[in-house]
Amino acid sequence: MRAMQIVELTGPDSALELVELPEPEPTHMLSPGAGVLVDVHCAGVAFPELLQTRGEYQIKPPLPFVPGSEVAGVVRSAPADATVAAGDRVAAFCALGGFAETAVAPPFLTFALPAELDFAQGAGLILNYHTAYFSLVLRGRLREGETVLVHGAAGGVGTAALQVAKGLGARTIAVVSSDAKQQVALEAGADHVVRSDGSWKDEAKELSGGGVEVVFDPVGGSRFTDSLRSLREGGRLLVVGFAGGSIPELKVNRLLLGNTEVIGAGWGGYVMGRPEVNLEIGAAVNRLIEQGNVAPIVGERFPLERAADALRFLDERRATGKVILDVR
Ligand SMILES: NC(=O)c1ccc[n+]([C@@H]2O[C@H](COP(=O)([O-])OP(=O)(O)OC[C@H]3O[C@@H](n4cnc5c(N)ncnc54)[C@H](OP(=O)(O)O)[C@@H]3O)[C@@H](O)[C@H]2O)c1
Repeated sequence: MRAMQIVELTGPDSALELVELPEPEPTHMLSPGAGVLVDVHCAGVAFPELLQTRGEYQIKPPLPFVPGSEVAGVVRSAPADATVAAGDRVAAFCALGGFAETAVAPPFLTFALPAELDFAQGAGLILNYHTAYFSLVLRGRLREGETVLVHGAAGGVGTAALQVAKGLGARTIAVVSSDAKQQVALEAGADHVVRSDGSWKDEAKELSGGGVEVVFDPVGGSRFTDSLRSLREGGRLLVVGFAGGSIPELKVNRLLLGNTEVIGAGWGGYVMGRPEVNLEIGAAVNRLIEQGNVAPIVGERFPLERAADALRFLDERRATGKVILDVR
């Protein structure tokens, strides 16, 4: 099969090589002895793959290896007790190995792809939407009628958070850095859009009548303190990622003064050993798809062999929605 391998840790320009490899066996490190083999139509591109080209991600397989954390395609074979079977269209989280014509995923992270979604949308479903649902609901205790401020709102996980929050009956305020990204946030259903280079904290307080209940933050960096200030009493700030590059530090007196909370939301670490939680989140996301609230926004698409260009797109902050590799 054709695959893109990381052969050295020198960044997206030079780390990747197109290779011919044997197909994987139907077993996965997260479900030893059991794996769903998927003929990949589309592979999702995300921050972990970018970081892996520099050896900066927490999962550091020995070189060379095939990156690619999620795919959509057609099941070639599945264990008898899996919820999917040969011939099914699926979205699958494989953690590694997705930038290839055939990938293997654990059964508990492989979901039938609803008819409403095409393969490109399927390859943007699990990482972003399961993270958004996990963060907002399981960690953030989001309730109907609350207001959520979403940073990086035109990005992959940001657009997912906008759609999931809205589907749960919350109001959303999107924070973005450009006109083009404003359009994407509106397309994702944002109720309001504010600009990251403007007085977004004051605008968010005004739009929410005194402060938001939840901040969803995949960006981090210098906006963290203003995020805390934009919360109302009892508000929750969800730490989802650091796309801005720096990890903020917190003076905890601010939490005391505002009666607010800062909550870590790490999807992968939480769900990997909890198949039943994955199935619950998958079912909840499917309900949101059926209700018309969730439809992943696909941004730039590249053929498999141009994976380096796709990663550069993320690196240069140009990505909107989910960046996709077309594999077959
Ligand atoms: N907690 C979890 O379980 C989990 C799961 C999935 C992803 N994540 C993390 O979430 C973060 C976002 O992932 P994503 O896939 O949504 O990425 P993305 O599509 O590239 O979006 C990230 C957004 O962050 C903003 N940003 C601000 N400064 C940036 C910079 N220096 N470089 C790039 N973007 C910058 C950009 O929006 P503006 O230009 O509008 O500011 C951009 O749209 C990553 O750190 C990822 O590792 C965490």
